[in-house]
This record gives sequence, structure tokens and C-alpha cells, in this order.
Amino acid sequence: MTAPTTVAPPRRLHVRTWGCQMNVYDSERMTELLAPLGYAPVDTPDAADMVLLNTCHIRERATEKVFSDLGRLRDIKNARAADGQKMLIAVAGCVAQAEGAEIAARAPWVDLVVGPQSYHRLPEMVARAHRAAGVQIDTDFPAETKFDTLPEARGKQGAIAFLTVQEGCDKFCSFCVVPYTRGAEASRPPAAVLAEARRLVAAGAREIALLGQNVNAYHGDGWDLARLLRALAEIPGLARLRYATSHPRDFQGPSGEALIAAHGDLPALMPYLHLPVQAGSDRVLRAMNRGHTADDFRRVVDKLRVARPDIALTSDFIVGHPGESDADFQATMRLVEETGFAMAYSFTYSQRPGTPAAALPGQVPQADRDARLQALQALLRRQQDAFNADCVGREAEVLVIGTGRDPGQLSARSPWLQAVHFQGSPSLIGQVVRVRLVTALTNSLTATLCATLEQEELSAA
Ligand code: SAH
Ligand code: SF4
Ligand code: F3S
Repeated sequence: MTAPTTVAPPRRLHVRTWGCQMNVYDSERMTELLAPLGYAPVDTPDAADMVLLNTCHIRERATEKVFSDLGRLRDIKNARAADGQKMLIAVAGCVAQAEGAEIAARAPWVDLVVGPQSYHRLPEMVARAHRAAGVQIDTDFPAETKFDTLPEARGKQGAIAFLTVQEGCDKFCSFCVVPYTRGAEASRPPAAVLAEARRLVAAGAREIALLGQNVNAYHGDGWDLARLLRALAEIPGLARLRYATSHPRDFQGPSGEALIAAHGDLPALMPYLHLPVQAGSDRVLRAMNRGHTADDFRRVVDKLRVARPDIALTSDFIVGHPGESDADFQATMRLVEETGFAMAYSFTYSQRPGTPAAALPGQVPQADRDARLQALQALLRRQQDAFNADCVGREAEVLVIGTGRDPGQLSARSPWLQAVHFQGSPSLIGQVVRVRLVTALTNSLTATLCATLEQEELSAA
């Protein structure tokens, strides 16, 4: 007698993701975990059987958005219930981790709350939620690691794939919730990373972005990040590598030097680095507990530019950290002016409950934070425009990731992670092609396709 195979009934899953790329990666993994239960992704929550919010706690506004979304979802859930349909609501990610109990109290229509380190248990939780009512909360940091229990199967893969190699953070910057929401720093073993990378390439990835909160602190089984990148570069079919987010402190020492050297001699490693510096004043950097000075950052930048002269640097900034004076802020402006960034994210300081900075004296008035942010963003915008304008007229190899918005248009990524649009055949999706960059906008470039080798051979014949 053959065992009966049970086929899960088809169900609609709507996933909404906020926050960093690690959350994007986690959302993909959770979607894969739920597929065997019959859940297939849909674009809107309206007719969904389950809605999963993968949340971010980094700034106050990010957290507020979750609660306003939950309010809207209650109405949809009630409307579906009136039609005799059940809709599960799950909250995952860093707000789940930090405010699980509060979510249950403020939004009792939520069925499950699951933290970033325990989402591999989501299928059991969903099965239980189908049987019973009431909010289930799982925000453990379980002994079994998520990565050991996640399924290996990967869905259809776009040309660019994210791969989490390191999680958590032990740095405890004064302002930051991540060490509390994501737990202690841990690296995945290189063998597991290489195996996952091979599966991603087999499923269609041409570029892999390695992810971690402090990815350049990677130390799986004694390997540093440079060694891991060199091993990944050997995978046939994998054309390009990146990594994010780095910390200036982890560029000190032998592993940092090895990583800088890799930027010089590893062709697959793209000439791009996201290196958050947060501030340009040593007084503020000390208060932030960053563990590096502005000059440490300058030295790393100089070495990277010697190793790879065309490297594009991007960063993150916080203005208005407690104790930041106007003079401190001017030091940030000077650092930006000297460095020249291709792009950067900048934020006004947001006071986060439970972080050391929240209790510091010298909280900066909101109006000053806003004025500083405006000045910084104007400067960063000018630098971004200048960087893009400088690319015009150059040829570059771009990775085609899909179709663009206009008819016949393709969307690609440059080595410097700019969005590039040009006319071309959809058959080029997933390929690295040579283009000439012709116009620059703030957030993208347009280009024309250069003749491919085959075309050149044909016209020569
Ligand atoms: N691990 C990365 C940062 C991850 S959080 C690093 O060390 O740089 C992403 C960015 O959010 C940070 O770089 C910082 O610029 C910003 N951020 C973090 N906490 C913040 C807060 N309390 N207020 C405003 N911005 C914050
Ligand atoms: Fe947050 Fe600092 Fe850790 Fe980055 S290094 S995640 S800013 S505590
Ligand atoms: Fe946000 Fe958590 Fe990432 S707080 S930035 S989703 S690690």
C-alpha cells in the first residue's frame, strides 16, 4: 500500500518587508518555508489567507508604520471573516523581537509574532494557528540555529541574490537596537555559504550580495571575509560579488588588509563599498561607541582607493546624536566633502527605547536635527549627481536584471550599483553586457547597448 500524499490546499500569502536587506533575505526564506503549506505569494493583502509583516525597529517611524498597517489589516481581516474566510496575520522581524508583548496587547487580532532567530518554526506556528485562536509569540534565540533547519530548496532566482553569511551584532553603538533585536554576532560556516551560493547560481543568480550587520567581521570556521569571497569567486557562472554592511572598525588588522587587497585583485568583486561612518567628529564617534575615529575612516578609504581607484563609496550618517554641537556637525560636512560619496543614506537621530543614547544628556532639538539633515542631504545629493555625471561617456559592463518601465527597455545594475536603463531584447536578462552610459539622473543612468562580440564578428564578415 502506498502512503497517501496529502496536498496542501492552495492559499494566498501577502508579505510586506521593511528595513534592511537581511529582512529581504528573511522574507524570501519565510516565503519558501510556507510554500509546502500551500501558500503562494500575492501582491495585495485584500484577498490574502495570510499576511506576513516583516518589520524594522531601527527608527521610531519604522516601528509606527507597523502599527498603522496592523490597523488597516484588522479591517480586512474582519471583512474576510464576515464572508466566512479566515485570514492569519503574522508579524516577524525586529519589531516582533523587540515588542512582541506590546503587539499582542495593542493588536490582539494578530495571530503570530515570530522573531528573526526563530522564524524557521513558522510552519508549526501556522499549523497551530489554524487549530486555535489567540496570539502565539516566539521570540526565542533557540539553541538549534535557524540556518541548520531552513529548507535547502530555493525558488526561482533573479539575477541578483542576497545571501546572509553573518548575523547579529556585538558592537552596541549607543543609538542602535540591532544588538538587542538580532542578538550576538555569529557567522555561518563557509561550507554552508558555498553550498547555498552554488544553489543560487544553479537557480539563475549571476551576482551574489553577501549580507551581515557587520559582514566584514565574518569569521566562519576561521575564514575571514576575503577568503570567503575568493572561494565564492571560483564558482562557475557567478559573475559578480558584493557584500554589505561593513564597519570601519573591522577594516583594521590583517583581515581588513586582506579584504582591501581582494578589492585590488579579485575581478568578480565589484568596485563598490557601503561603509557607514555615521559622523565626522571624533567626540561624537566616541559618544556613539563606534570604536573608530574620523581619521581611521579616512585611512581605510585611502587604502581602498589605492587598491581599486574606481571604487564607489557609499555610507550612512546620523545627525543630531545626543551631544552633537554645530561644530561637530561641521566636522561631518568636512568629512563628506573630502571623501566624495557616490551615494549615502542619512537620518536624523531617533531615540530608541533601551539604547544607551536614549538616556544621554544633550538631546538635540528636533529643529536642529532637521536643519542639519537638510544641509547634509543637499551636499550628498550634489556628490551623487557629480558621481553619476562623471560616468557619462564611459563604457561599463552591466548586469541585466529585468525589463524597465518603458516598452523595450531593460533594467540593469552597473558595477557601482547604479540603476541603468537601455533598449534591448529581454533575452539579455541575466547576462552581463557592455553598454555606453549616455545620460545621468540622480537615481539612475540611461545607456545604449554596445555591439556584442557576435554582432562585431557578423559585421566584420
Ligand atoms: N551595521 C550597520 C548599521 C545597520 S542600521 C553599521 O554599523 O553601520 C542602518 C543605519 O541606520 C545605520 O547605519 C544608521 O545610520 C541608522 N540608524 C541606526 N540607528 C539609528 C537611530 N537610532 N536613529 C537614526 N538612525 C539610525
Ligand atoms: Fe548597530 Fe553599531 Fe551594530 Fe551597526 S555596528 S548594527 S550601528 S550596533
Ligand atoms: Fe531594521 Fe532589524 Fe534590519 S531593525 S535595519 S530590520 S536588522
